[in-house]
Amino acid sequence: MDFNEKLQAKVLAVEEIIKKYLPKEEGVQKSLLEAMNYSFLAGGKRLRPLLMWECYQLAGGKGEVVEPFMAAQEMIHTYSLVHDDLPAMDNDLYRRGKKTTHAVYGEAMAILAGDGLLNFAFETACKAFSLENRGDAERIAGALSILANKAGIYGMIGGQAVDVEAEKRKLKLDGEKLLFIHAHKTAALIQSAMMIGVYLAGAEERFVREMERAGYAIGVAFQIQDDILDVTSTLEELGKPVGSDEKNDKLTYVSAYGLEKSKRDVERLSGEALTILRDGRERNVFLEELVESLITRKK
Ligand code: IPE
Ligand code: IPE
Ligand code: MG
Ligand code: MG
Ligand code: MG
Repeated sequence: MDFNEKLQAKVLAVEEIIKKYLPKEEGVQKSLLEAMNYSFLAGGKRLRPLLMWECYQLAGGKGEVVEPFMAAQEMIHTYSLVHDDLPAMDNDLYRRGKKTTHAVYGEAMAILAGDGLLNFAFETACKAFSLENRGDAERIAGALSILANKAGIYGMIGGQAVDVEAEKRKLKLDGEKLLFIHAHKTAALIQSAMMIGVYLAGAEERFVREMERAGYAIGVAFQIQDDILDVTSTLEELGKPVGSDEKNDKLTYVSAYGLEKSKRDVERLSGEALTILRDGRERNVFLEELVESLITRKK
């Protein structure tokens, strides 16, 4: 099997796992649950749960305890997209090749679907406590704390807030702020996935910190590539509108430094992540190939 075949098979397996945790579309609040599932099931690369799974295996993890966390991580990511697309934020009409949640269900329901996904993510992760063979309950509590921190005001939400401010104030180049935005709005959830993966497998602190550093480099590179694709790709290929950043007068890596430096930095940062992953301990060749594949990703 070559890398792409392996990737396809693994993404399918990840989807099987995470879909099991979605709410049933029934009850008086059915439309809310439909709107939540609509965005979750629209597709997506499933990169974060896949990274979590691979990191769990890298650290020798074998049980099911990681599964509710994989679903929770994708729910948080999906909520961040639903809210990111809202008229008050990036005001975009396509996501994952379909109409955005607010375009289909209306703005109020999209706000609630995002809230619902965020809260249900934690309800879902808490299901790890009631698994047979769940292992140490303190590990689950620690993983919850990583999940909460990286999604929150010192993580993704913090990054999104500065992203919005940078747009309103029409900041010119402020390299430090730009790096803060990318490190928080995007890298934080990737760090979360990788850290939780090894942490739930019982890794020691040093290993968790290494994944935090690798996740930083992968995440910032991932957002720079996202900024590049917003300029160079098409709606058909990307599944979401291109030119969204220019429309909103965003501070992006490409608007700040141009395409060439942006591409070089994606390579440099990915190289840094690969060095951390290759350094010393057990290798996970697929994980390394996955990180390499992100350098040239087209969607
Ligand atoms: C989109 O993330 C938002 C960013 C952080 C750039 P993805 O590119 O992982 O989106 P999906 O999950 O594949 O739709
Ligand atoms: C990442 O930034 C957003 C997050 C949801 C945290 P973007 O606004 O560039 O993401 P896309 O391009 O809409 O996916
Ligand atoms: Mg945005
Ligand atoms: Mg956006
Ligand atoms: Mg973007």
